[in-house]
Amino acid sequence: MRLDKLLANMGYGTRKEVKTMLKAGHVRVNGTPEKSPKTHVDPDADSVTVMGDEVEYREFIYLMMNKPGDLISATEDAQDTTVIDILQPEDHVFDPFPVGRLDKDTEGLLLITNDGQLAHRLTSPKKNIGKTYYAVIEGKVTEEDVAAFSKGVTLDDGYHTKPGELTVLHSGEESEIELTITEGKFHQVKRMFEAVGKKVVYLKRIKMGTLELDPDLDLGEYRELTDEELDYLISNSGL
Ligand code: URA
Repeated sequence: MRLDKLLANMGYGTRKEVKTMLKAGHVRVNGTPEKSPKTHVDPDADSVTVMGDEVEYREFIYLMMNKPGDLISATEDAQDTTVIDILQPEDHVFDPFPVGRLDKDTEGLLLITNDGQLAHRLTSPKKNIGKTYYAVIEGKVTEEDVAAFSKGVTLDDGYHTKPGELTVLHSGEESEIELTITEGKFHQVKRMFEAVGKKVVYLKRIKMGTLELDPDLDLGEYRELTDEELDYLISNSGL
């Protein structure tokens, strides 16, 4: 990898800024001052320092966010603030993106990464990775709904969903449920309830594969996955 790319990726500035830093002699490779941005380095084998500080290279970043109900889960948007806009600059430099989409008004677990392979595995319907949602539903959710969801329901566009595992936590004028689905069609949870004549009034994702939303994260907060969470997620997503 080119030295300027490595330094820019690690947040030491734009390529131009990095070039100036190199010219000034602030960067050493294996102890020797290096001024050319084109120099190739092996991030695993070479030691790179900036003003004496060792640069720790990493390719991927994995963040868990508790998405609030007023952010768009996209990398950029002309009108609204996105989940990427609120990341700290040191995380932004990795060019991460949200894995799968949550509606603007949906809260909860969002994985943000630049690891395209993992993202693909987690969202591909072929991989059968469960996504679990907690929801508040207007009206009584019944055992008939549980049975209907277990066979899949037909959405407004005629698509018949894969089975969903519906658990009724509380049934009343407003019901509370948990639903696990393995696909991610547009507005899927909302439309599955519409298919049985009910309305989702609050939606929050609480689990994706083996990854559970950290209850200590307030809305709008995020943190890196622990090594354990990441290992578990990767080994259970068929990678
Ligand atoms: N299903 C929905 O309807 N909305 C979401 O944000 C996620 C799943």
